[in-house]
Amino acid sequence: MFFVQRPGYRASDISQSRFYDNVFLTKIEEKMLNGEMGEAVQLAARIVVKIGDALGAERLVPIEDAHISGISFKNIGESGLDFLKMLIEKEAKFAVPTTINPAGFDLKKWGKMNVDKKFLDKQREVIDRLIKIGAKPLLSCTPYEAKRLSYGQHIAWSESNAVLYANSIIGARTNREGGPLAIFEAIIGRAPYTGLHLDENRLPEVLVRFPKDGKALSPALLGYTLGFIVKKGVPYIEDFIFRKMSEIKLFLAAVGASSSIGLVLLEDVSPDLKRFWKRIKKTELEKIEITEDEIEDSRSKISKNLTKVDAFFLGCPHLSARELKEIYNFLHNKKVKERLILFTARRVIEEHTNIVNRLESKGIEVYADTCMVVSDIGRMGVRRLALDSAKAAYYLTAQGYEVVLLDREEILKIASGG
Ligand code: F3S
Repeated sequence: MFFVQRPGYRASDISQSRFYDNVFLTKIEEKMLNGEMGEAVQLAARIVVKIGDALGAERLVPIEDAHISGISFKNIGESGLDFLKMLIEKEAKFAVPTTINPAGFDLKKWGKMNVDKKFLDKQREVIDRLIKIGAKPLLSCTPYEAKRLSYGQHIAWSESNAVLYANSIIGARTNREGGPLAIFEAIIGRAPYTGLHLDENRLPEVLVRFPKDGKALSPALLGYTLGFIVKKGVPYIEDFIFRKMSEIKLFLAAVGASSSIGLVLLEDVSPDLKRFWKRIKKTELEKIEITEDEIEDSRSKISKNLTKVDAFFLGCPHLSARELKEIYNFLHNKKVKERLILFTARRVIEEHTNIVNRLESKGIEVYADTCMVVSDIGRMGVRRLALDSAKAAYYLTAQGYEVVLLDREEILKIASGG
């Protein structure tokens, strides 16, 4: 078989490669698989190669970064803890910079969140074990705001909103990995060279148009509807109207919640569009016009007509420093009359203590390390809530909460008494 040299491999690696299953391996990858680099590396290599084979990957691709989701004890339970213990016993170490998603509570304000003591201990164990393997405790779902990524970089991320952001806005390359697979990929520093790592799979498959007055609708709702209708593949969004990062984050997170899509090509935004422009034939693409009825139909799945809620939530995905400042600017000369709860990254809180203190002095709760979906908001006295994130609306509705989806501005206006 003819092997095309790709970035990340030296010629000497390639000349000494062999096939395992149907995946072409370099000499160093062979050593990993043969156990010459330790038991944990061998296990991880076996799994990544097997999955690569099942997905039809021609070879593996070196990755430069990893991000692991699904680390809340609420999600992974005892079996997840055992899995991490097994990796530590095998002396596993991440080979690339690896960060982790939000966990079940704020590591400093867990008392205020009324966290169950047993849960507290178990969650800390999960985090400690991941740190032992080499993870940096970012505990945020917006690694794209904390790390410097560049166009074309191969990475392995397993948080859907982050995957969509990395692929669609930065032009980095990752598939939507499951949490355990991202762990194995981080241990060997490689992922199967398949899916969105390949140029040919990053071309648009369907052209999507939103209603002309789509701007009046929330980006979260449009993203949720898009995912719900298109489901998979690479959609190309014509006349994409949102430009604020906060809107784009809400849009992409919602796409991730209602579909298996990992890349959305946003007109005038996505860098891949410039690179592949000559290969894109818009007229030959299947076209989907999303209607207002479809948008209302998807709203009805995740949003109720609630007249009263226990709290208003913002921060899915985690609020950036800029978003936090915008919220503060909106509220700074107003009284906050409703319970308002914000989620952001620990780094943002530490770098902007002034703003956080001022927000908290208004009675607003600001948490890091966790989020409204992976923490237990029921223990915080919430059953009915308003939020601006369709992703969180989807997951919290599934958890039995009563949810109303509103715009961020609407939420801030109501919370501050109109
Ligand atoms: Fe992040 Fe939690 Fe939403 S992990 S994207 S804030 S569900």
